[in-house]
Amino acid sequence: MAKLTIWPAGKVMKVRPGQSLIQAARSARVVIPQRCGGHASCLMCKVVVEEGELAPPTALERRKLSEEALATGIRLACQAKTVDRDCVVRIPENKLKSVIAAALKRQAAEQDDEL
Ligand code: FES
Repeated sequence: MAKLTIWPAGKVMKVRPGQSLIQAARSARVVIPQRCGGHASCLMCKVVVEEGELAPPTALERRKLSEEALATGIRLACQAKTVDRDCVVRIPENKLKSVIAAALKRQAAEQDDEL
């Protein structure tokens, strides 16, 4: 069994080799956005491998992701399988969510300045 860590949730879980990232995440109650049911067509389940290792990209991943994306560690969580090595992946933050978070942080800072 290897250790899989999923950010930004910070969940750490034990995984068996050959398990898809999306299955592993689901079993740890981490939601990875997806719409196609794991058929590699929506591309919503992209994750970034930050450390460690996964099985080599599948033929579907090679077809759907550019060489550049694969080289920077981007994988499809519905296709990428675990191996017997620890791995750390990050679910990219939704752009709208990050804009709202930045606005809320700025608003909180302004309120602190007024006090
Ligand atoms: S779940 Fe749709 S591409 Fe992975």
